Amino acid sequence: MTLIDLERILQSQGFGNRKACRAMIRHGRVVAGGATCEDPFAKFAPDGLAFEVDGETWLYQEHAYLMLNKPAGFECSRSPIHHTGVLDLLPEPLRNRGVQPVGRLDEDTTGLLLFSDDGQFIHRMISPRHKVAKVYEVTAKHPVGDEQIAALLAGVQLHDEPSPIAAAACERVSECVIHLTLTEGKYHQVKRMLGAAGNRVEALKRIAIGGLKLPDYLPERGWRWLDKAELDKV
Ligand code: URA
Repeated sequence: MTLIDLERILQSQGFGNRKACRAMIRHGRVVAGGATCEDPFAKFAPDGLAFEVDGETWLYQEHAYLMLNKPAGFECSRSPIHHTGVLDLLPEPLRNRGVQPVGRLDEDTTGLLLFSDDGQFIHRMISPRHKVAKVYEVTAKHPVGDEQIAALLAGVQLHDEPSPIAAAACERVSECVIHLTLTEGKYHQVKRMLGAAGNRVEALKRIAIGGLKLPDYLPERGWRWLDKAELDKV
């Protein structure tokens, strides 16, 4: 089992450069292996290591994979223009270690958003080739008729698209609410599809990605780590 200096472990987890991590440790702000450790060169096996920084507990993660329940009013871009960026909803060490949103939700869309610092994972999740299913709860302005559901399932023509785009599934939940499953991630896709079907999106929430559902207990703005079993589901 590889043993690594504590200061390097903290650096890898986003707590600053080596100098900053060394100072943090020397000032007694770090607990590792069950006790305060003031030696930056003390060696630990990183896998499964629980440590504390300023009283907050962290578990070593080689790569970060997490979910956020995105509220409205936040942009998914790296350099947000009109609103605050979603990265501001995550703790600083996660931002420092280069965690990025996996794909994008519009500023007014809420719900399940994944983040990671694993480039291969991000690529797999957003690549059209992999056809990862995304389920949206759509609240429409007008009642969603059977003919609109049939059109969404058969395929609707969007501007700038060479051929009609079909939903992978569409279920009516109530008069104005449907669950729409898409396997692409085109710009404003749900809003444009509803428009092409003769309706309009009033509210949009992503509730699942692949086999991963947004849990009821996770409040808006809440985030949590994904475990190995959950990663296998997406
Ligand atoms: N489709 C949209 O129109 N907006 C989103 O945020 C996601 C999918």
